[in-house]
Parts: sequence; C-alpha cells; structure tokens
Amino acid sequence: MLNILAISGSLRAASTNSALVAALARDAPPGCRVTVYDRLGSLPIFNPDDEGDRTPLEASELIDAVTSADGVIISCPEYAHGVPGGLKNALDWLVSRDAAVEKPAMLVHASSRSLFARAALSEIIRTMSFALYDGGLEIALLGKKPPEVENILAEPEKRLALRDTISAFADFIRSR
Ligand SMILES: Cc1cc2nc3c(=O)[nH]c(=O)nc-3n(C[C@H](O)[C@H](O)[C@H](O)COP(=O)(O)O)c2cc1C
Repeated sequence: MLNILAISGSLRAASTNSALVAALARDAPPGCRVTVYDRLGSLPIFNPDDEGDRTPLEASELIDAVTSADGVIISCPEYAHGVPGGLKNALDWLVSRDAAVEKPAMLVHASSRSLFARAALSEIIRTMSFALYDGGLEIALLGKKPPEVENILAEPEKRLALRDTISAFADFIRSR
C-alpha cells in the first residue's frame, strides 16, 4: 500500500484546492492511500532558531508525516503572483532535514491561472530536492462555490481523471 500525503495551500473553508485534494483522497485507486494534511494553519512561523531540540510539536508532526509518506501531492492557489505564505512556511520547516530529499512530489491545480505560483512552487520543490513528477492534473474550479465544486468533482470523467492521476504518480513512485 502506497501512503501519499496531500496538502492544500489554502486555509479557506470553501477552498477549491482543499476540495481537490479531498477528492483525490476519495478517489485513490486500490493500492494507494491518500491522506490529507490540513494543519498548515496551526504551524508556527518557521524560525531556524527553533529547529533541532526546539522543533515545535506541530512542525514535528508535519515532518513525520512527510517522512513516512511515499509521496506528496500539493494543490496550491496563487497569491499576488506567489506561493501563499502558509504553504511556504510549511515547506520551510522541511528544508534543513531529510524529509523532502528524493521524496516524490506532484503538483495538481484547481485554477487554470496561477502560472507564477506554479513556476515558483516547482522551483522551490526542486531546490528542496523533492523528486518532482512531470505530470499532474488541472481541474478548473476557480471562483466556484462548494456545491458546484462538488458537482464537478463528482462527474464520472473527473473521478476517472483523479484516479488515473494518482495511478500515474504511484507508478512514478514505484519506479524510483
Ligand atoms: C490575496 C489574494 C491574492 C490573489 N492573487 C492572485 C494572483 O496573483 N493570481 C491568480 O491567478 N489568482 C490570485 N488570487 C485568486 C486565487 O488564487 C484563487 O481565488 C484561488 O482559486 C483560491 O484558491 P482556494 O479556492 O483554494 O482558496 C488571489 C486571491 C487572493 C485571496
């Protein structure tokens, strides 16, 4: 069983990115378990002085979750042409250790815009030595309210695309 951790970069209750990662968890194919990490908002602001023995519990939990995962999926909005601070903060907690090194990662997208954030996130992920999977998935949910989002994500072809995307990522993970 592959254990995949999915992270949404948005803290909004009605987040389209969070809905997308929840749908990935729901539609994971046999042999893959996708677990959503939803505690970005409780992480302290990263401070290198608070590493080692001083690492906060919330950061340790994130580090353990990434370390024990076979792969990581990220779905992230764009804020002012950049990566939202909450996600960047979480990633910063992973930099000075082995959690991210050679860890397979895949980006998925809930907006067809966000091209600056995609490029920035890819650069960050590669710089941290994640093994970034070339593929991914885009489902255009920008500006849609939760009922419409749920309807779109429940469409049979979308559910197939969600499952196939995880299967392809799982193949990438197993090939390494
Ligand atoms: C503060 C702020 C800044 C934003 N800046 C951009 C931007 O630069 N480019 C863009 O494409 N969308 C931008 N957006 C729109 C969000 O990326 C978009 O609404 C996204 O779908 C929200 O994701 P969520 O539904 O998961 O919260 C911004 C939204 C906010 C709240």
